[in-house]
Amino acid sequence: MTAIDRARTILVTGGAGFIGSNFIRYVLTRTDFTGIVVNFDKLTYAGNPASLADIAERFGSRYVLERGDICDADQVHGVFAKHAPSLVVHFAAESHVDRSIHGPAAFIETNITGTFVMLEAVRQAWKDRSDVRFHHISTDEVYGSLGPTGQFHETTAYDPRSPYSASKASSDHLVRAYHHTYGLPVTVSNCSNNYGPFHFPEKLIPLVILNALEGKLLPVYGDGANVRDWLYVEDHCEAVWTILTSGRTGETYNIGGECEQRNIDVVTAICDILEELKPRQQGRYRDLIAYVRDRPGHDRRYAINCDKLKHELGWRPKHDFTDGLRQTVLWYLQNAEWVASVRSGEYRTWIERNYADRNS
Ligand code: NAD
Ligand code: DAU
Repeated sequence: MTAIDRARTILVTGGAGFIGSNFIRYVLTRTDFTGIVVNFDKLTYAGNPASLADIAERFGSRYVLERGDICDADQVHGVFAKHAPSLVVHFAAESHVDRSIHGPAAFIETNITGTFVMLEAVRQAWKDRSDVRFHHISTDEVYGSLGPTGQFHETTAYDPRSPYSASKASSDHLVRAYHHTYGLPVTVSNCSNNYGPFHFPEKLIPLVILNALEGKLLPVYGDGANVRDWLYVEDHCEAVWTILTSGRTGETYNIGGECEQRNIDVVTAICDILEELKPRQQGRYRDLIAYVRDRPGHDRRYAINCDKLKHELGWRPKHDFTDGLRQTVLWYLQNAEWVASVRSGEYRTWIERNYADRNS
């Protein structure tokens, strides 16, 4: 019997964000899990309950949103006392590299202290219930930056280079230290760049789609030749589920799309898809591309080797980039209401009205 078979309640932190909301959707609609999913989220600028409004309606009491801060030990312990989760999947984080450059403090607080608070709560719960398990979601950025060749393996030495990646690296070390020191049953995954529905439009792909539709410039940092390894978000969710169901505790698994793309090629691909789906009236979308000042310390290239996950657990990415990007562009064309809600902050009012009583 696996941890999932035993689990009645899964606690997902950061479940109102991009990947967390896709993960909750995946668990409830694509797996045979029959228990309850609790979404513990502070609802920062990046958290939007509207991303799961249909899930809340469809799954009723099997989906619970608890608004709270992972840095607040009382709130975290309160959620553990109320829901007694046996599986914790930890997505909550400050996630945007540019914001970490402008204001690192929130990254240190949420990503490091928040993970520490979560680990302490899990350790406490695990003392009473030995079935408790913690999965930590991390990033390939902890490994640093690659030159033109090579890949990141699970054994690659950490070399984080932005406040964001340094804070994630720190949290990874804490998680592994809790396993090593206390024997806490943990797994860790380090994933490459995700894309797909519900992606907050501060990140490259949704930003370019929406700017293009509004006739705004499409900012490409530096020379546009930085490379990222893109993974469709649903493939990431499936990978995490695979690790939860059959991964070995204490282990780290790299997750990647095996899909290296230069930024400029991603931007032109979006322009070409838009040209086909919603032709520009004056000029072409590509005319909007503007090379702008580079991100300080901009990592040149990421490439993930995910052979361990493929060979040991049988996972592999299912979506190819051309189809996934097209689906993503279509999703943004068809979900203007969601875009308006996450951009305007309007959803905050909605939160106050609809969710205040759920957290009392
Ligand atoms: P996101 O910014 O879209 O969402 C983050 C979520 O965490 C939001 O819902 C936010 O409200 C919540 N949150 C932030 N601070 C919180 C706090 N103190 N307490 C409770 N909730 C809080 O992020 P994302 O892109 O979905 O990333 C999710 C996780 O995946 C992060 O840990 C990130 O490091 C990791 N990751 C992301 C990518 C990617 O390409 N986006 C790739 C690899 C790993
Ligand atoms: O690699 C995984 C990481 O991917 C995650 O850990 C992070 O949470 C996630 O935000 C993402 O980080 P990046 O910095 O790679 O993503 P972003 O979308 O911000 O940028 C992708 C690339 O595009 C990067 O090389 C910077 C560049 N870029 C970004 C923006 C926002 C531009 O050229 N122009 C832009 O306007």
